[in-house]
Amino acid sequence: MNSDESRNLPIGIFDSGIGGLTVVAEVSRKLPHEKVIYFGDTGRFPYGVRSKEVVKNFSRQNVNFLLSKKVKLVVVACNSASAVALSYLRRNFEVPMMGVIEPGAKAAVRATRNGRIGVIGTEATIASSSYPKAIKRISDSIKVFGKACPLFVSLAEEGYINREATRLIADDYLKFFKTRRVDTLVLGCTHYPLLKPVISQIMGEAVSLIDSAEETALEVREVLTKRKLLRPKSGKVAYRYFVSDTPEKFVTVGERFLRREIPKARRVDIGMY
Ligand code: DGL
Repeated sequence: MNSDESRNLPIGIFDSGIGGLTVVAEVSRKLPHEKVIYFGDTGRFPYGVRSKEVVKNFSRQNVNFLLSKKVKLVVVACNSASAVALSYLRRNFEVPMMGVIEPGAKAAVRATRNGRIGVIGTEATIASSSYPKAIKRISDSIKVFGKACPLFVSLAEEGYINREATRLIADDYLKFFKTRRVDTLVLGCTHYPLLKPVISQIMGEAVSLIDSAEETALEVREVLTKRKLLRPKSGKVAYRYFVSDTPEKFVTVGERFLRREIPKARRVDIGMY
């Protein structure tokens, strides 16, 4: 394949479901000329409560599917899969591969002033200690405090954004950070940016909230630039969406995550990959 053809290929993005659309939204903002193929593993969602082996296996199939659509780069737009499967995927595939944890960690280190960072995520992400490890690789003196907030995922999926129930649950989870004096909190799960208003209200204005989606899109731009794979400004931009369960719920809930219309999504038998 010549370099013009490679540059024209889409970026492949996958997640355990719809949450990775927050990354798609940022990619479309920062890289408006790129084409995107998105796969949401809605049939096997959630990943955050599963074992490492299962998540690695699912992630391998997801990458195989994206490669069958000829993508030039894969973004693992899922914190749980990035936490437990990214190094395994990098060892097993040649395509450039990015996760969401390193970009989020970098942004948190840049934001903290007192060297105390909180991280919230699924059980799998918190148990893997991937954020503390990534943060400490940048600066060893930073203190990192992690807390799993599994109910946030269902609240975001159900659109429970401004509800009293959400505030009560968030209050209960986030009181963990009150005595730990963090000045920066990483939203270490693709669903959590939807709950930003309530999280920010509880943590207070002085705490910076880090959403890795934006930082990930910037890193995608950097990687594509370095590899001379940025798509030229000409030609039609297409976004194609695939899921492993019925597309209807993905389309309705997905539009909330993406903040734009999803004209259609197709179902894929992911077990075949
Ligand atoms: N995309 C997943 C994550 O960021 C959402 C939650 C899940 O699959 O458990 O961890």
